[in-house]
Amino acid sequence: MCGSRGADLDSRMEPGPSGGVSRVLSVTDLMEVARGVARSPEVRRTAAGFIGYGATTPGQRVLIGVDTQTDPAITDAIAAALREMGASVDVVIAQTEADREFDDLDEIKVAMRRQPWVENPRRWEGTPWIEDLAGTRGYDLLIHGKGGAIPKVSHRYEGFPWVVQDHFDAASNLFPRPLHRLINEHTWSRIAANPGGRIRLTDPEGTNLSLTILGQPLLDDTRHDYGMTPKWGHLMAHPPTPIERDDDSTGTIAGTLNHFSRPFPRIEVDIENARMTDIRGGGAYGAAWRELEAETKDIQYPCFPAPGLFWLWELAIGTNPKIVRPDNIRNLSSGGFEWERRRAGIIHCGLGTRWRSSEEVWAGERRLLYGHLHVHLLAPTLIVETAGGEIPVIVDGRLAAYDDPEVRDLAAQFGDPDQLLHDDWIPDIPGVTVPGDYAEYAKDPSRFIYAGT
Ligand SMILES: [Fe+2]
Repeated sequence: MCGSRGADLDSRMEPGPSGGVSRVLSVTDLMEVARGVARSPEVRRTAAGFIGYGATTPGQRVLIGVDTQTDPAITDAIAAALREMGASVDVVIAQTEADREFDDLDEIKVAMRRQPWVENPRRWEGTPWIEDLAGTRGYDLLIHGKGGAIPKVSHRYEGFPWVVQDHFDAASNLFPRPLHRLINEHTWSRIAANPGGRIRLTDPEGTNLSLTILGQPLLDDTRHDYGMTPKWGHLMAHPPTPIERDDDSTGTIAGTLNHFSRPFPRIEVDIENARMTDIRGGGAYGAAWRELEAETKDIQYPCFPAPGLFWLWELAIGTNPKIVRPDNIRNLSSGGFEWERRRAGIIHCGLGTRWRSSEEVWAGERRLLYGHLHVHLLAPTLIVETAGGEIPVIVDGRLAAYDDPEVRDLAAQFGDPDQLLHDDWIPDIPGVTVPGDYAEYAKDPSRFIYAGT
């Protein structure tokens, strides 16, 4: 575990060899979480705490699709839990790259394409042959895919985002779902109830961005993951594509992490009316991103009001208080920083096309670059300015909804509200959350983040 965690560790966890959370040793130890997940309601999400396979009934056939970087004990535990429910479970393990340390460009390699994604799937979408197998062989449920939207198919399809046992802990995966949902509702309503208000987003690493909350996208029920029924665990402070002509998102996004690369020297991304106008720093990640901007600057994508690929559409807020960065974060097999974007109050910013959208189909058919790239904000403050005053949504990386009386009252039904409504893991950022020199850290953050891993 990299970072600070309170003393309220799950009792199953003991200090490991690196001083963090130890590996759980057997499938038996994982069964509590596996049973809890397997019996929870299905809501087609890959957000820990909202994953379930509970519509499974005796005699049904389930296909689990994972890859060779997934810890097989997790797969075995989920399969055993489903078999306890009377299902027949088959597992396919797709060969993937051997484990190694992250490099500077892994984010780009796993997220950007110049061909239809079916020909070369990105990390967070299903493997086409596994999806075909589930469809053609008559499975009732396919459990597959680490993130992104789950495709709509004729059978049930649910996610499997865990790669290492640090992801499969009880605290985050079995967090009381009614409480998690209410945290989402109270966070979301602060934005959705205030069209015409202004979002002001800042972060100690240098982000300073503001935007008007546009009414039209909020009222459009066809908007993916938006409107009055958003995607729990991934609350969008900016509407997904298409980008509106009156989008006034302007400012700078700055940070040192993305979903799936080595940490990079601090990057600054300037945004004007939602369009990226400049990138400074970022080391090799920044240099590669500038090349992709040069390649696409004159292309008119169908979802954007003017040419270019890199428009801001994703400002997504995590909502699970119990998410922890895994120990082996230096390696591909940790799943990278993509996991921790689920922690309550962490925001990931995304610029480019929306995942598996019509514009990505359009670009893939034309062999044009598509996809989106991220910068994470680990300790943001997000305020909604309204005519009636300022409404805090996140303050220094902590959801303001934790303090709402209704949320605290519901938490009391499940345990100690102070323990439940508490972010167990706070990332260590020198000069921000722990003592140190931020400027020194920001030159080469991997040296600090990988220390001891
Ligand atoms: Fe994204």
